[in-house]
This record gives sequence, C-alpha cells and structure tokens, in this order.
Amino acid sequence: MKTFYLTTPIYYVNDKPHIGHAYTTILADVITRFHRDLNKDVLFVTGLDEHGQKVQEAAKKRGVDPKAHCDEMAPRFLELWERLNIKYDDFIRTTESRHISVVQDILQTVYDNGDIYEDEYEGLYSVSEERFITEKEADSGQFKDIKKLKEKNYFFKMSKYQKTLINHINKNPNFIQPAHRKNEVLGFLKKPLEDLCISRPKSRLSWGIDLPFDSKYVTYVWFDALINYVTAAGFNSNEEMYKKYWPVNYHLIGKDILTTHAVYWPTMLMSAQLSLPKGIFAHGWWLSGESKMSKSVGNVVDPLGLIKEYGVDPVRYYLMREMVLGNDASFTMESFIKRYNSDLANDFGNLLSRVTNLLTKFFDSKTPKFEDNSIEGNSIKNKGNELIKNVSTKIEQMKVNEAIELILQFIRSVNKYLEIMAPWKLVKSDKESAGKVLFSAAEALRVSSLLLSPVMPDKTSIILKTFCAEKTSVKWGELTPNKTIKKHEVLFPRIDINKIEKKNISHKKNVQKDNIITFDQFKDIELKTAKIVEVEKVEGADKLLKIQVEINNKKKQIVSGIAEYYSKEELIDKTIIVVTNLKPAKIFGIESNGMLLAAKNGKDLTLITLNSEKVNTGMIVY
Ligand code: MSP
Repeated sequence: MKTFYLTTPIYYVNDKPHIGHAYTTILADVITRFHRDLNKDVLFVTGLDEHGQKVQEAAKKRGVDPKAHCDEMAPRFLELWERLNIKYDDFIRTTESRHISVVQDILQTVYDNGDIYEDEYEGLYSVSEERFITEKEADSGQFKDIKKLKEKNYFFKMSKYQKTLINHINKNPNFIQPAHRKNEVLGFLKKPLEDLCISRPKSRLSWGIDLPFDSKYVTYVWFDALINYVTAAGFNSNEEMYKKYWPVNYHLIGKDILTTHAVYWPTMLMSAQLSLPKGIFAHGWWLSGESKMSKSVGNVVDPLGLIKEYGVDPVRYYLMREMVLGNDASFTMESFIKRYNSDLANDFGNLLSRVTNLLTKFFDSKTPKFEDNSIEGNSIKNKGNELIKNVSTKIEQMKVNEAIELILQFIRSVNKYLEIMAPWKLVKSDKESAGKVLFSAAEALRVSSLLLSPVMPDKTSIILKTFCAEKTSVKWGELTPNKTIKKHEVLFPRIDINKIEKKNISHKKNVQKDNIITFDQFKDIELKTAKIVEVEKVEGADKLLKIQVEINNKKKQIVSGIAEYYSKEELIDKTIIVVTNLKPAKIFGIESNGMLLAAKNGKDLTLITLNSEKVNTGMIVY
C-alpha cells in the first residue's frame, strides 16, 4: 500500500485560530481524504507551536504561565478542527516530552557533527520587542528603545549547505511548489547564506527547549518547531513508523513561511543526516476583499461565525473552490453567496432534487432497474469515467480547485442531459426509458457525491444514504437498482441576499462598538463643503436653528442644535463641512437633510469652518 504523509504548519498559540489557520487545515484535510479514497495509507499531522517569544508574551499579557496559556489555547484549536470536520491522525504540541527529546537529540547530533559553534553577536536590540532588529527596521523609526547589544549565542552552519541545497532544488523540480515559489527560494539563495542563530539566552527568553550542550540557553523557536514533522512521524520512538512515512510527501504551508521550510529545514536535515521532504507546497493568502487580514484593521474573518450561519460544508467548499492553489484569493461575502447559490444550490442541489422528486412521483420512490444506453446516456457514462480519472490526476498535481471545477462541470452536463431527455415528459409515453434516464442521473449523482466527499463529507454522505450507496466505491456502475430512496432535507437552500444585507447592517453596528470601521464604511459617509446662507430660530426649541446651506448653488435645509453657541449673525456666510448623505429626519416637525461638523468639548462647541476665500462649496472632504 502506498503511503501519503502530509503536514500543516503548527500554529502559534498566541491568538485564537482564524480563517487562515482554518484554510490550511481544511486544505490538508481535503487532500488527505482524497488520498485515502485513492487507497493510500495516510498520515495527516497538524499541531501547535507553543514555545518562543510570541507565546511567552501572549501569556505574560494575560498574566498566566506560558504552559497554562498553551493548555487553555489548545482546546480552541481542537474545537475548531472538530467543527470543521478535520480528520487528522496526530495533533502534536511542541511542549510534549516526545517532541522535546527529539529536538534535543537532533541538536546534539548537529553539534557532534561540528555544525554548531559559539559566537558573539553584536547587533541592534529593541528592548520593548525583546529581539534583535535589522538596520532597516531601526531606520524605520518604529522602534524607540534601540540599544546595541553584545550576546554570546550558538550558530548553526547553514552556509555550509548552501550549494548542496541549490543542487537539490534544481535536481528535484517538485521539491518546492508551485514553481514561482521555487524561483523565489533560488533567488534568495543567490546571496551568500548566513549561519543561523539557534539559541536564546535564558536571561531574556526562558520559554523554550534547553540546549542539550548548554543549559543556560533555550533553542530558537523555529529550530524546535520544524522538527515536529519528524517527531510526529515516529523519529526515535517508532522506527517502523518513521521508515514508513518519512520523508513526508508534502509540507503544506502559507507563503509567509517559505524560507524557514525551504531553507532552514532542509539544511537542518542535511546536517542531521536525515532525508529531505519530497515536497513543500506554499499556498497564497486569503485577503479580506483587497486587503490583508489584520486584527488591528478588524477585517479578520471568523471561521466559526461562518460555519454557524451557513454550515461547515459550504464553507469548506468555498475555500477550496475559490483559491487557486499558490495564488492569493479574496474573501468576500458576495463571492461566497454567489458561489454557494450557483454551484451548490443551483447545480448540485437542483440535480439532486430533480432526480429524487421524479423518482418519488413516478417510480414509487425506488431506483429504477436499468441504466440509459442511448447515445446521450452513454455519453454521460463516458464523461463519468473520464471524470474519475481526471480528478485523481488533478489531486496528485495538488490542483484541488480544478478537480472541484471538473466535478461541477460534470454535474452541469447531467442537468443538461435531463433537460434534453425530459424524463418528466417521457414518463407519460415511455416509462421504462424515463426510468433509465433517471437511473443514469442518479448514478452520476452517486459518483459526483463520492468525488466531492473529501470537500463536503456531511452533505455528500446524506446523498449517498439517499441512494443506499454509502458502501459503494468511485467506479461507474455501482448504483443498486430497485432500492427505496430515503427522504432528506433540502441540502443547499438558496441564500437570500436581502437577509444578508440586514445582517451586514447589524454587523456594522458591532464594528462601531469596537470603535473600528473599515475604509469602505468611512467612504460611505459623504462630506462636502457648504456655505450658510439663511438661519432661523425654531419656535419652541431653544437649542435648535433651522439653517439653509448652499452646496453648488443648491440649497439644503439642516436643523442643528447649535443655538446656544452661535447667533444668526455669526453663522451667515460661514463655510462649513456638512454630512450630505444622512437619511432625512424630522426634528421638531421640520425636515433636516444633513449634519454640520463641529468640535465639542464639554460645554464648548466650535463649528469646523473653512476659509471661504479659498474654498468653494460642494468640495468633497475626506
Ligand atoms: N508557528 C509558525 C509555523 C511553524 S511550522 C513548523 C506559524 N504559525 S502561524 O500561527 O502564524 O500560522 C501560519 C500559517 O497560517 C500560515 O503559514 C498559513 O498556513 C496560515 N495562514 C495565516 N493567515 C493566513 C491567511 N490570511 N491566508 C491563508 N493562510 C494564512 O507561522
């Protein structure tokens, strides 16, 4: 039996998991499920990177011990994996003793091989960041507390392996994928490779694994983390397992951690005399619309929220279908809904409900006896057989989105086939032929469901149950005739855009609560320069003034609560800033079509005014 070992990065526990972590892990899950279906012996490992500065800081901020922090964070990841239906074989945490002993063992081997030396390092050090920074960073002005620091550390002779690594990359075109990432690494390797500082004195960072040859130091978090990939494969604990699975087929990573995986890790393995991974595959980033997801901007997509709203399978489907592996992709609710409604509700869901409804209505809820041997029926069968082959080729090539698209194209062609054959009409003149058409369509659904099951395990299992086909395999012709089909709920109800818009409004409210708005939200506010041309008191309201402003020679009436601060005379002819797209409102029975901008401090209020000689009315303010 062929083996297939796949890893995800092990995630930092400094924050709760987000859509980026969810994406890589779902991708790994989908790929390994496909390989299991191809009858391979699969090992799928994910886990947590628990040592180092970032985690120590996160724990410090919360006022807890780092280990306690990790123990609290780990279940959050596990819970997310459970909700996302992730079928991993091992969940490794770098604080586990099985891992610590492997890291120390490899450090010792590399040390004994003469590839680790002690040296004094002098550099620019940021006290608040607690790390050495580059000259460029120092020049950027973002660090206020820089000092020169001399520190004794241990260095790994990475430079020694530069040539061997370049040769390896050139000789093994699939070692780093996709090709543009390989070229990026080769570009990086054109400059002389520096040795890697692999220690941190405990005086400044204590949260790590002790160097076996000097207990005053812990090892650098990346030297520790990368080794998880061999720990989980059984290195030093289960030789048989290790032989079976190592070298790994793919390290699946985001493009942000390419150098550590494609340069540090292989050179570490070379020094420890272990085999190199067969493949390193770097995917792109999910952007929020056009911009990078970032906590401070507040545009990070929360995977749990999405699942709660739309179910896990549509979210898995969208993430897998939408990203071309290797490139960045843009996450928007619009594209999510479009994808869901067109592929899942219209194409896949529609085919299913057509077939089951017709079988229920005309065939006593039973699968008919024979498949369709007409030219059209045979064409569907041939397409189905082709599809099975093509999907596995695409998966072997790591082209998950293309594999999915092939399946959807097939589903669309089956819908067309039904339209051409019109079994709902045919049944009146030739029931047997109509039954054959429906049999072939049901068989196409069974095959498509099996092929899509790595992406949508829950929904497809309902379809397979419907046709009593849970135990069948991905081969054309395994649908059992004359079986009663099971009833099920609508699998992919259409998403109503109107409902979403209402939700978005309440989402905006939440954003305001956090005091953060997106640039798009800011852009929605229309601010213009205006001139005050008329002012009147509002009878019976001491604080209110009815003001006419002029914008591009057009008048606009605004009711404003500034009567206590300004007299009519003071206001006339002032050039001010007005919010022009505010929903009209009635104040004291008088229509108000905007708002004036003013600065307020306790009892003082000052209108924001502009120099009327320099500023015309109707100018956009931003
Ligand atoms: N702990 C290191 C990895 C060590 S592996 C030996 C680390 N952890 S991380 O928590 O920062 O996770 C990084 C990974 O999360 C990325 O490589 C990528 O797989 C995933 N993503 C994080 N944000 C992402 C997006 N916005 N889009 C897609 N994936 C991204 O780095």
